[in-house]
Amino acid sequence: MNYRNLGKTGLKVAEVGMGTWQLAGKPWGWDAPDENESMKALYRYVELGGNFLDTAWVYGRFDELGDEKGSHCSEELIGMFLKESGNKNKVMVASKIPPKNRFWPAHLGIKIDEVFPSLYIEDMVNDSLKTLQMDSIDLMQFHVWQDEFANNDEWKQTILKLTKEGKVKHWGISINDYQPSNCLKTLDTGLIETIQFIFNIFHQKPTEKLLPHAKANNIGLIARVPLDEGGLTGKITMESKFTDDMRSVYFNQERLPEFVKRTDELKKLLGDEAKTLAELALRYILSFDKISTVIPGTRKVATVEANAAVSDGRKLSENMMAELKNHTWERNFYVDKDPVLKLQSYIEQ
Ligand SMILES: NC(=O)c1ccc[n+]([C@@H]2O[C@H](COP(=O)([O-])OP(=O)(O)OC[C@H]3O[C@@H](n4cnc5c(N)ncnc54)[C@H](OP(=O)(O)O)[C@@H]3O)[C@@H](O)[C@H]2O)c1
Repeated sequence: MNYRNLGKTGLKVAEVGMGTWQLAGKPWGWDAPDENESMKALYRYVELGGNFLDTAWVYGRFDELGDEKGSHCSEELIGMFLKESGNKNKVMVASKIPPKNRFWPAHLGIKIDEVFPSLYIEDMVNDSLKTLQMDSIDLMQFHVWQDEFANNDEWKQTILKLTKEGKVKHWGISINDYQPSNCLKTLDTGLIETIQFIFNIFHQKPTEKLLPHAKANNIGLIARVPLDEGGLTGKITMESKFTDDMRSVYFNQERLPEFVKRTDELKKLLGDEAKTLAELALRYILSFDKISTVIPGTRKVATVEANAAVSDGRKLSENMMAELKNHTWERNFYVDKDPVLKLQSYIEQ
């Protein structure tokens, strides 16, 4: 495993991290997580040199949008793993504070009081610390964002206080889907050290403004959804069936033929540079030096091994990178899902 700097945090993170949305709890994509296998996958990831786990308070909850009684399944399993394996000091955990109004993404014009009021930020940090069984969280990220929150001072004072108390070491933002510049003004506050953002062969928009801005300001970059929610694994066919989560909408009957057509085109590029579509997708991201880590969602030993193997220092050729530019496909999941959201969510032009 190769390691890269996480911006100015001083942390050296594995360039292949482990995304854990689907690690435990409710069904995701095509099946429910098998928590025994998930635990083995965590052990294998660390055995292969992995040291960066991305999670969130909300991952695996059965009641994501409903009442507050559900447990934080992904954080809980990670907490158990770190305790049982004695890896607390070896592995970095990045978690996320969900929006108080439980609405993804944060839409333009929303008041920060509805999304991240100060006392709520403190409560959520304490809650995650308890679930993870840790005294301090390496990286805490806001799970949605609007750049206009940069004008508010309360959250800034709160995160400084939590850092001083030793509860959180570093702060980041997991920005809204398909809005890669909706954080640049906030980065200028100097309080945010990392940005987590969607980046994959279909969605290359972050190369335009976010990557250069992050490079100039030494911001750590965490590339999420590198396999387009599974679309870039090559596993999806016209016959694929999905569990009743957001993927049944993401890969809906209207989009599915387009996915299959586009991934069939990409498969024609496989060969010496990458043997599988997942490998091509991960190598694409790691070919950018500025990326600190890519976090494919993994819950199986076999996928952990396949993804870790991509960390061998081999970059895609310039020809391949140029060819992949022809495969961009910008979509807006939220607008397709619900026309009412059209006014509140946008894809950056
Ligand atoms: N708003 C946010 O902050 C936000 C939103 C989304 C995701 N995230 C973070 O980013 C992570 C990654 O995104 P994601 O999990 O949604 O999507 P993703 O990484 O693009 O895709 C995950 C899917 O890819 C499959 N997979 C992984 N490695 C594979 C390989 N080598 N070969 C074949 N299939 C492979 C997984 O398989 P299985 O189904 O078999 O496990 C899973 O179905 C999440 O886990 C989470 O930590 C954050």
